[in-house]
Amino acid sequence: MKLDKTLRLEYFLESPFAISKRYLQLRLDSDIYQYGETPMRTLERIAQRLKLSSDDHVFELGAGTGRCAFWLACLHHCRVTGIERIALFADFANSVVRNYGLQDQVQFIHGDFLEKNLSQATVIYLYGTKMSDAEIEVFILNLRNTTSGTRIVTVSYALEEIVAISSDPRIQIMSFEITDAFEAEFFWGKAQVFIQKLRSRS
Ligand SMILES: C[S@@+](CC[C@H](N)C(=O)[O-])C[C@H]1O[C@@H](n2cnc3c(N)ncnc32)[C@H](O)[C@@H]1O
Repeated sequence: MKLDKTLRLEYFLESPFAISKRYLQLRLDSDIYQYGETPMRTLERIAQRLKLSSDDHVFELGAGTGRCAFWLACLHHCRVTGIERIALFADFANSVVRNYGLQDQVQFIHGDFLEKNLSQATVIYLYGTKMSDAEIEVFILNLRNTTSGTRIVTVSYALEEIVAISSDPRIQIMSFEITDAFEAEFFWGKAQVFIQKLRSRS
């Protein structure tokens, strides 16, 4: 609770939505309203469906302010690596990591998650409903480097749906097994959450 308050105070003067909008405006992105947060009640449902434990290393792709990452680390005792392209978010979150002595458990990496090595992940959480199909394809290709059994959580779409429409032969030979799917609340409405595993890479 204390940590969450500290994190929220960081955004007292400028909200994460405004910071994200400014970042996307500077990038001349055609959609500047991409930021959103997973409601904590929904995150908790996801964590329970995943049965997270201290053996898990969750990679949160597009970690935003880091609120979800801290929740998972503090309440489910897993390791968490958050990757975030907005430097301010990653820097603030890392200062909270240091202030609360969580260096062994949580880290935030500033950068593009499409270019990062995800091989240490046992669970990947991607709330990326604004990603283009082309970006999701790059993400899927990157999953070839994950360990067998890594569970991948996506919101609104299953990765198999993207595989089905892809014209990339490297993706066409991949296949995912959905191990769980359920409806969950987001701030903009209800969406399906998919938990899946990479079944085959070839
Ligand atoms: C919809 S928000 C989700 C925030 C948080 N994961 C949550 O669920 O509450 C998406 C976040 O992903 C970040 N993002 C989008 N594309 C990214 C990329 N390719 N690499 C790193 N971060 C990215 C955005 O800056 C934003 O903070």
